[in-house]
Amino acid sequence: MNDYRAVYDILSEIYKQRAFASIALSRKIESADNRDFVTRFVYGVLARDVELNWYIGALTSKKPQNSVLILLKMGMYCVEYMDSVPDYAAVNTIVELAKKVGKSASSGFVNGVLKSFCRARPALPEDRTAALSVTASVPLWIVKAYVKQYGFDKTREFLTVAPEEREHMRVDVTRTTMERVKSELDALGAEYAPDPALDDCLFVRNSPKLKKLLDSGICTFQSRCSVLCCNAAGVTDGCKILDMCAAPGGKSVCLASRAKDVSVTACDIYHHRLELIAAYARRMRRDIDVRLMDATEYNAAMASQYDIVLCDVPCSNLGVAAKKPDVYLFREPSSIDALAEEQYKILCNGAKYVRVGGEVIYSTCTLLKEENCDVVKRFMRDHRGYTFIDSCQYLPDGSGTDGFFVAKLRRDS
Ligand SMILES: C[S@@+](CC[C@H](N)C(=O)[O-])C[C@H]1O[C@@H](n2cnc3c(N)ncnc32)[C@H](O)[C@@H]1O
Repeated sequence: MNDYRAVYDILSEIYKQRAFASIALSRKIESADNRDFVTRFVYGVLARDVELNWYIGALTSKKPQNSVLILLKMGMYCVEYMDSVPDYAAVNTIVELAKKVGKSASSGFVNGVLKSFCRARPALPEDRTAALSVTASVPLWIVKAYVKQYGFDKTREFLTVAPEEREHMRVDVTRTTMERVKSELDALGAEYAPDPALDDCLFVRNSPKLKKLLDSGICTFQSRCSVLCCNAAGVTDGCKILDMCAAPGGKSVCLASRAKDVSVTACDIYHHRLELIAAYARRMRRDIDVRLMDATEYNAAMASQYDIVLCDVPCSNLGVAAKKPDVYLFREPSSIDALAEEQYKILCNGAKYVRVGGEVIYSTCTLLKEENCDVVKRFMRDHRGYTFIDSCQYLPDGSGTDGFFVAKLRRDS
């Protein structure tokens, strides 16, 4: 019961106070007996939120209040996804939990709805896009936007494919060799495989025994798309690079390792996040100039100063939903317009900081064209003196890539 109570408390913080899942978990996980169970339970409910809401809507005549909603979601998640817990035990545990969290008056209702759910699952919507929204557990407005952009079949493919579960590891081959890291992994009994597209990367099954190797700073976990984005920058010896939105520093550190005598200035708007960049750079033995900066504000001192400017802009994160299931929770269509405006401002400023002949990389971890090619198109329409070189929209297609967008522009005058 203690762990169910911990899950309820954590979900309450997330649903009622809009706390980030990772932060709510780290605050409350201490009180759990089985941390792994609690973490999987919390992330599981969040990942199936749209689906659970659909079931609740179909089995109740009016929307239950928040606490009851959380209890029902927990119960339905246990029944549907936790094979180790018999249905009757799950229902009893949630009914008892309702009493413990001050919802005794609703315990009969919770019992009734969960028992109906155990007897038969409500039918899916008839419309195939609405049905996909439920089965993939992605909000309908997002599924509709994907279908419009990618077509139904492609959307269904990337929303239902099993994500790559192994971590993606980049080896700093300027400080070691792939052979040395592979033999260290062998010695640790770690499971790994080469990345078919990236010579200095591996897919590795994560485990606590990798800690010492990672701490040594000769290799790091860095997502496949993050490495591909840095490679698109085409860093050469002596390059001067500005990373406008840099925390926690994954791309800054990678860019710094891509050639000799590279200087990287890494900025972020949040002071506490600058420390993440500094700590990561220390671990990876890279010298990086870390600065507090609001990338939406123009800074004349930076004009035409850099060979490469990376605008890895804040975005809706929809392309990494498999790793962060809470990205959908409070996302509204109107927030996409606000993000696109901020992204455009950052790109406009970044484009001014690059020298003539230098390149701007614009990237996001999202799949929506409004934050991706539309922002780049708007920039190209409004600005002379830049050439669009190329762009790539990666899909979370099970190959280890996230939903990620990279575009490359050159400043000509
Ligand atoms: C996509 S993340 C960057 C990830 C990073 N490039 C990496 O590879 O590790 C976006 C970052 O932009 C920062 N940010 C948000 N608004 C900003 C702004 N107006 N100016 C500068 N940084 C901003 C956020 O704090 C966040 O760290």
